[in-house]
Amino acid sequence: MARQNDTFICQSCGAVYSKWAGRCDACGEWNSIELEPTEAAPPGGHTAKSSSRGKKIELVSLRGDIVQEPRIATGNKEFDRAAGGGLVPGSALLIGGDPGVGKSTLLLQIAAGLATGGANVAYISGEEAVAQIRLRASRLGLVDAPVNLASATSLKDILATLKANQSQVAIIDSIQTTWSDTLPAAPGTVTQVRACSQELVRYAKSSDCVLLLVGHVTKDGQIAGPRVVEHMVDAVMYFESETGRAFRILRAVKNRFGAAHEIGVFEMTGTGLKEVSNPSKLFLSENEKPVSGSAVFAGIEGTRPVLVEIQALVSQSSLSSPRRAVVGWDSARLSMLLAVLDARCGLNFGRHDVFLNVAGGMRVSEPAADLAAAAALVSSLFDTALPAETAIFGEISLSAAIRPVPQVDARLKEAKKLGFSSAIAPMNVTGGTLELQKFETLDDFVRWLRNR
Ligand code: TYD
Ligand code: MG
Repeated sequence: MARQNDTFICQSCGAVYSKWAGRCDACGEWNSIELEPTEAAPPGGHTAKSSSRGKKIELVSLRGDIVQEPRIATGNKEFDRAAGGGLVPGSALLIGGDPGVGKSTLLLQIAAGLATGGANVAYISGEEAVAQIRLRASRLGLVDAPVNLASATSLKDILATLKANQSQVAIIDSIQTTWSDTLPAAPGTVTQVRACSQELVRYAKSSDCVLLLVGHVTKDGQIAGPRVVEHMVDAVMYFESETGRAFRILRAVKNRFGAAHEIGVFEMTGTGLKEVSNPSKLFLSENEKPVSGSAVFAGIEGTRPVLVEIQALVSQSSLSSPRRAVVGWDSARLSMLLAVLDARCGLNFGRHDVFLNVAGGMRVSEPAADLAAAAALVSSLFDTALPAETAIFGEISLSAAIRPVPQVDARLKEAKKLGFSSAIAPMNVTGGTLELQKFETLDDFVRWLRNR
């Protein structure tokens, strides 16, 4: 029987309810709402009975002494890049990802790199025994790195250890296995995850220790439990992989100390994660001759230019409502492009199945990819290949105008570096060492391609 003060929390997204329900209104998950005993108030926090008035806080100006401690470089360029140039003392990072994607492997390598560089690093695992971690370390060739290793799950013990050891970097693998004995909730529940993270983050801030929290993700891409941690930490990174592929992308989705959307690219090998310093090569397929339906998009991930191939297949359909399928691209964006091609350029895809695929398992979300996707679609429809060695970028508006995009120079430079000789771009683009083919509207582009 539920008591008056009981709260019910969705274990998937952390939404709070006063009574039980079968489905969470906030995230739509079924059977995720569970009774949580009322949380203890945080130390120094307000309780219902607190009657003290609170003391006046001193307000200060924006100008003042800034003590900027140097960032701690991990020695792993791809990781440092995703983290915005190294770790900031006293900051907390959440690294989320599917089970098995390689989070523990990555962090063990990072720990070893930091320790070898002279930092005092504690790697605390609640998921694996010390022997298992040693086994992995020997496989990765890292046994000689002076990492302080422990297998523990109790928050109290972990905090005491970090304090006694004066760790500069603490890796907690994972936040779902850490539990505080002051709470009656089971480990991994939202209540535990939130409380333990709060404690750990508070410790990090007060001791200038860098905290790296590992969190597991659920199938739909949300970090279960750890999602409630996102606002507490300074940076959130997701470690992603495409099924059946060896490369992994570490993507910063939030970073208080650097650019968000920065990516680091790795390849999982038999001896751990290898840095991939030139990811464009990975995402371009090696077509000998230009083929129809293939366009190379000159994209930007964070501050890094990445070239990716966008492939389209447009084929006659026998279905009354033809198929639309996308991989690595937003399906609403595809519908918009098809509508613009239909309404503004007179190209009807109503009797065609349309498939759009971003090669290499990359995910593209930049609007600047519109023109490349449209070019791939039109190229497949006409069965006309786009010119060879040509990179494409430009955003398409509903009026079919090709709009300017940011960071043009970086895009052109990357294309040049990879041996491209020309670019299809919006009107405002100038300079660069590539031959430019500029269009004002999508209609102009379609007419140009039709006449090739
Ligand atoms: P792991 O780091 O344990 O994943 P997570 O902590 O995210 O759950 O990675 C486990 C996977 O990585 C496992 O399927 C085996 C693979 N792997 C390699 O391919 N090469 C290696 O050198 C290591 C250590 C793991
Ligand atoms: Mg792990």
